[in-house]
Amino acid sequence: MSAEFDKHAATYDGGLDNPIKRLIGSSADDYIAVKARWLMRREKGLREGTLSLLDYGCGAGDLMRVLAGLGARAAFSGCDVSTGMLAEAAARWPAGQGATLALATQDGARTPFADGQFDIATVSAVLHHVAVPERPAVYAELGRVLKPGGRLYVFEHNPRNPLVRHVVARTPIDANAILLDANEVLEGLLDSARYEVETDYLMFMPPGIKFLRAVDRALAWLPLGAQYAVAARKPA
Ligand SMILES: C[S@@+](CC[C@H](N)C(=O)[O-])C[C@H]1O[C@@H](n2cnc3c(N)ncnc32)[C@H](O)[C@@H]1O
Repeated sequence: MSAEFDKHAATYDGGLDNPIKRLIGSSADDYIAVKARWLMRREKGLREGTLSLLDYGCGAGDLMRVLAGLGARAAFSGCDVSTGMLAEAAARWPAGQGATLALATQDGARTPFADGQFDIATVSAVLHHVAVPERPAVYAELGRVLKPGGRLYVFEHNPRNPLVRHVVARTPIDANAILLDANEVLEGLLDSARYEVETDYLMFMPPGIKFLRAVDRALAWLPLGAQYAVAARKPA
């Protein structure tokens, strides 16, 4: 699994090698910023520097880097099965903007972090790369490392959106992807812990066009956005 992603690490750009994705959004960060802004709206404490955040399957660390660029000052940790991706995350992390980043290698689903270590865990565009029988172990690991009352955010491509299916089928890094809809995430999480859960749909409009952001927010209930976010709170 490490080797599969190691070969994409140095050039990883969130699938922007796909011409449709390039047409709709001008940079990989445009796409990531949709998720990052959504998270910043929910987690106001991210600006205060008091929260710890784990990005599980962090890849090149782009979600945490974009969060930091938007003013998040969490204690950031990232983990991944791919050592190549982790090296890229270290290389891309901007020095001197005040946010710290700790990186760790996963052993399959397992991470080296302590029980109850994190206030927040994010899992962005990871689960569709995890073999279906291994997904329960990922949910269990996330539940283990979250504090009581901690929040888990799962961001995924929405297979109910036909354009998403078209793009994923033509994107090299997604060659082995098995997409999952929000209900599958909800069922997996609810099997592993008694989380309080809710779902928002994201990215109806091209990312990067500022005046369309309000449209995206108004449509968050409609299960057709290109992405979805499942928010889950661990019981206190
Ligand atoms: C498409 S990349 C997404 C990276 C990052 N989260 C982002 O949003 O840019 C998927 C990442 O999941 C990682 N990953 C972590 N745990 C995994 C697992 N158990 N099975 C498959 N991929 C895993 C891969 O190594 C890869 O870096």
